[in-house]
Amino acid sequence: MSEANEAFDAVDVIVTKRGRGELSDPQIDWVIDAYTRGVVADEQMSALAMAILLNGMTRPEIARWTAAMIASGERMDFSRLSRPTSDKHSTGGVGDKITLPLAPLVAACGVAVPQLSGRGLGHTGGTLDKLESIPGWRASLTTEQMLAQLEGVGAVICAAGDGLAPADKKLYALRDVTGTVESIPLIASSIMSKKIAEGTGALVLDVKVGSGAFMKDVASARELAETMVALGTDAGVRTVALLTNMQTPLGLTAGNALEVRESVEVLAGGGPPDVVELTLTLAREMLAGAGRGDVDPADALADGRAMDVWRAMIRAQGGDPGATLPTARETHVVIAPADGVLTSLDALKVGVAAWRLGAGRARKEDPVQAGAGIEMHAKPGASVRGGQPLLTLHTDTPERFERALEALDGAFFIAPEGSRPDLLPLVIDRVG
Ligand code: URA
Repeated sequence: MSEANEAFDAVDVIVTKRGRGELSDPQIDWVIDAYTRGVVADEQMSALAMAILLNGMTRPEIARWTAAMIASGERMDFSRLSRPTSDKHSTGGVGDKITLPLAPLVAACGVAVPQLSGRGLGHTGGTLDKLESIPGWRASLTTEQMLAQLEGVGAVICAAGDGLAPADKKLYALRDVTGTVESIPLIASSIMSKKIAEGTGALVLDVKVGSGAFMKDVASARELAETMVALGTDAGVRTVALLTNMQTPLGLTAGNALEVRESVEVLAGGGPPDVVELTLTLAREMLAGAGRGDVDPADALADGRAMDVWRAMIRAQGGDPGATLPTARETHVVIAPADGVLTSLDALKVGVAAWRLGAGRARKEDPVQAGAGIEMHAKPGASVRGGQPLLTLHTDTPERFERALEALDGAFFIAPEGSRPDLLPLVIDRVG
């Protein structure tokens, strides 16, 4: 179709939003569809995205924008599975490996977990990058393979196919290079279009708050959570959100193979207390959303059932759950400069340092190093001794240490003995 036959003009749509106007339903339907078809150009969509970032959208506009992005592609259907489905989505954080122990744990409790994930960009790691550090494991499955694995194993973590919300795929890549990611309407519609199109029956959103997250304060995280919960609920998905702490990294590792190792420790009944607590809290919410609130996931963690599902899940996608994980060739230890109490360890700085060591990518086509990342030997609240290791940096390319250490400048603070740091709780609030 030529532009002359189009229902609207992209410039009019941009000017409406630039002037703080409300976009009509037909305008939204058209602009998403025309952008997916290539009729609305990238520079026009980036101007519109910037106008939305600056001037916002009303709830009805966000709902319509989300529906239009869902309609740009296919919807999955899990209604023929013999068990209910429940999924979790995190808005992204440093050391956030929770999906890895969580998906098999919930599956071990009788609820199927269809987890369509992405690769990391910037300082937050991607679940697929983490799993790809397991020798042989592959992220791509056909819809039939995914359904068979959900029925047989109960959990699948794989790459979202190109057919799911293609408008979002195109728009997210554009936002990433035009400074338009940090907009609540655009984040909420992006995440929820994919989750609603995925077809899960229940959804738990882990909305991160703090330096390492998109949302730096509780008020904006709450607004994002409320927007997403309303979108999910209106679309018939039982949706709740938890606001959780991302001032400091989760657990004691940030990096692909390092995080897999820590996740396996959790599945074996150990692991850092914050990772165990958040995994169990999210599992309880996912089970309750699927009508299985009577099941205690702590039992499935303790008796090894969750570990059995993990092994089956990795094997089903070609991976060897018993294989030795890759390790980086070089390490560098950062020591505590003095005795005292570690009062802060900044998530963003640790995330950027891990990324610079090779754990993350700057452009979506860049490779990642499986073994790169950071191990933390103490978390805020712990007493430390001068000279003890605080962080171990891992990379295959030691020329990266200098830039990683620059990123860590001011990343931690050690206060005199007896100090009591004012720390946010791990789970700050629940919405829904
Ligand atoms: N994750 C998404 O999928 N979309 C966003 O806009 C931000 C985070």
